[in-house]
This record gives sequence, structure tokens and C-alpha cells, in this order.
Amino acid sequence: MPTNWETADILKTPMEICWQFDYDISREKLKNLYSKSKKLQWDAEQDLDWSIEVDPSKPIVSQTRNGLDRLPLFKRLSTTQRETFVAHATAHQLSQFLHGEQGALMTAAALTHAAPDYEGKLYAATQTMDEARHVEAYEMYIRKIAIIYPISPWLKGVIDDTLLADHWVKIAIGMNMVVEGLALGAFHNMRRTTTCDLLRRLTELVLRDESRHVAFGNLYVRETLADMHQDDREDVAQFSFEVIQSIAKAIGGVDGRGERKPDPGFLRVLDEVGIDHQDFIRAIIEAGAAGMRAEVPAGQVHAFKDLMMPALVRVGAVTERSRALFAEAGIPVWDDLGVIESMEDSSSGDLSLDPTLPQTN
Ligand SMILES: [Fe+2]
Ligand SMILES: [Fe+2]
Repeated sequence: MPTNWETADILKTPMEICWQFDYDISREKLKNLYSKSKKLQWDAEQDLDWSIEVDPSKPIVSQTRNGLDRLPLFKRLSTTQRETFVAHATAHQLSQFLHGEQGALMTAAALTHAAPDYEGKLYAATQTMDEARHVEAYEMYIRKIAIIYPISPWLKGVIDDTLLADHWVKIAIGMNMVVEGLALGAFHNMRRTTTCDLLRRLTELVLRDESRHVAFGNLYVRETLADMHQDDREDVAQFSFEVIQSIAKAIGGVDGRGERKPDPGFLRVLDEVGIDHQDFIRAIIEAGAAGMRAEVPAGQVHAFKDLMMPALVRVGAVTERSRALFAEAGIPVWDDLGVIESMEDSSSGDLSLDPTLPQTN
């Protein structure tokens, strides 16, 4: 079958590609992460039980997390409408994971091209393979629920800005710290709340790989930023701020309480259920006025507070100058590393796994 150009989207990037003829390894930890990645490749086709039946109308992913189920508007829905909502809202969320994984596949490939060190290229190549397996796994799962939504414009925007960056460090920040921070939070929360064994197992395997991807960002970017000229570091800090700010704007601020542009995909979910867009927006505003908030329940991860901001601070991607920009934008510069350190791969060199995650074979 010929390529379907109607569904393709072409970007022209300013990225530099780097050959490296020095094959000596100076970053042992990065080499260890590469070795570990090679050994821990899993295969969605072989390692997951695809015979598990998936009923998309059952709450595969809890909708209580965003507080929607507490709105009077939702309480009034018929059983059929509720089931339709669960099926489509879940499909909408999983579709974002699928498209996001494709974005990660391309940013990892870009890092393989552009990383200036031999061990950096080796590692980035394993991440590229990881992301290809993630795209495959989510595509297989979504095929089971047979509903797919387009990528949200803001997510496409953030990933495109990352892919169109002119330096590999910006790509590593945009993907391995920011978008993967967001994803790690969402995956972690989904693993805890999903009622589907197949999705839970799939997400556990994906999370194990993602913990290495976040560790890579920390290991490699921190060193590179420390060696950078101050002007270049400021340029990277500016990029980091802009990526964070664009996500915060898209989702209604770091706590999701502010104004946001309705996601066209989510409006389609409402259409499927038969909910008027204006009624929905009014219900959200009224709920906000009544003090009903989309709180992050205990035990769940807050992507900005626990993952993205501490990751940026730790590598030096937040400067004195950019701290002022964050303050002005109302985004706290959280720097508590507790959650991120418990979730990422420590790359100590041994090949033991995170004991909280199941091992393959
Ligand atoms: Fe991934
Ligand atoms: Fe990843």
C-alpha cells in the first residue's frame, strides 16, 4: 500500500547531526543505562496477554481523578450516557499516550543523530527502540477499544516545539524532562487506577522504560549545561520556561483551575455523549465557584510539582533570570526531588529492577 500522505505531517528542523569518531567512554553511568536498556527490552506481542477482553464502557481509567463525575451535570446522565462517556474519555486519554509515544520516538531518534558523544548515541538509540515498542503497545491496546482520537493541539504544539529546537539539549529537556515528566505522572496514576489487567501490565512495562528515559535526561543534560557558556545556558533556560508555560496555559495552570481552551477532541467526546458544550463549560465554572476542585488525590503524582519542575532545577535549566519569568507566570519553582528520585532509574550499574515493578521472564 502506498504511503498515506493525507495523514502525514512534515516538519523541517534546524537540528545539527553529529558524527563522533572518539569511541572512548567517559560517562560510565550512561554506558550502564545503555547496557541495562539492551537487557530489558520487552515485546508487547509476546509479553502481554492479549486474550484479555476489554470492555470500553467500563471505567478502564478512573474518571474520578479529574472530578468530572462529581459534577451535577454528570450525575444526571443516564447509564448509557455514562458508559459512552467512560469509553470515549478513556479513548481520548489513551490516544494522547499513543501519539505522545510517537513524538517520543522521533525526539529519541533526533537525540541519536545529534548527541555529541558515542555513549550518548548508544543510549539514545535504545530509547528510540523503547519508544517504538511503546507506540506499538498502545496502538494494539487502542485497537481493542476501537476508538481513536486525534492528538490534542497543545500536545502536538509542545512536541513540535521540541522537535524543532536547534540544540539536542533542548530536545532532551522538552521530551525527557517535560513531556516524559507529564507522561510519567499520567502513567503512574493510570497504573494505580485502571481496572483493566492488560492496561495495568502494559503501563508497568512502559513505566520501567520511562524511568530510564528520565534518568538519561538528568545524567547527560546536567553535565552539558554545567559546561555551557552562560549565554547558551540562558537560551536553554528560556526554552525550558516556554515549554512549561505552554503546557500550564493549555491545561488551565499548574493546578488545572484556570481558564483553558477546550480541547477539540474532548468536545467530540461530549458530542458522543450528547452533552451540550456550553452546558459543560457552565457546569465546570459553577463547580469551580462552589469550591469543587480537581484535586490530586492522595498517593497520586502531580506532574509539575513532583516531576517536571524538580527535574529542570536539578540539571540547572532554571536560572536566576528564568526564576523571575516563572514567578511572573505564577508557576512555582518546585524543587523537591523525593518523588522523581523514587521513580527514576538510579543507573547504579547493577541490573536489578525497581522492586515495585514486576520483572519479565
Ligand atoms: Fe515512551
Ligand atoms: Fe520515554
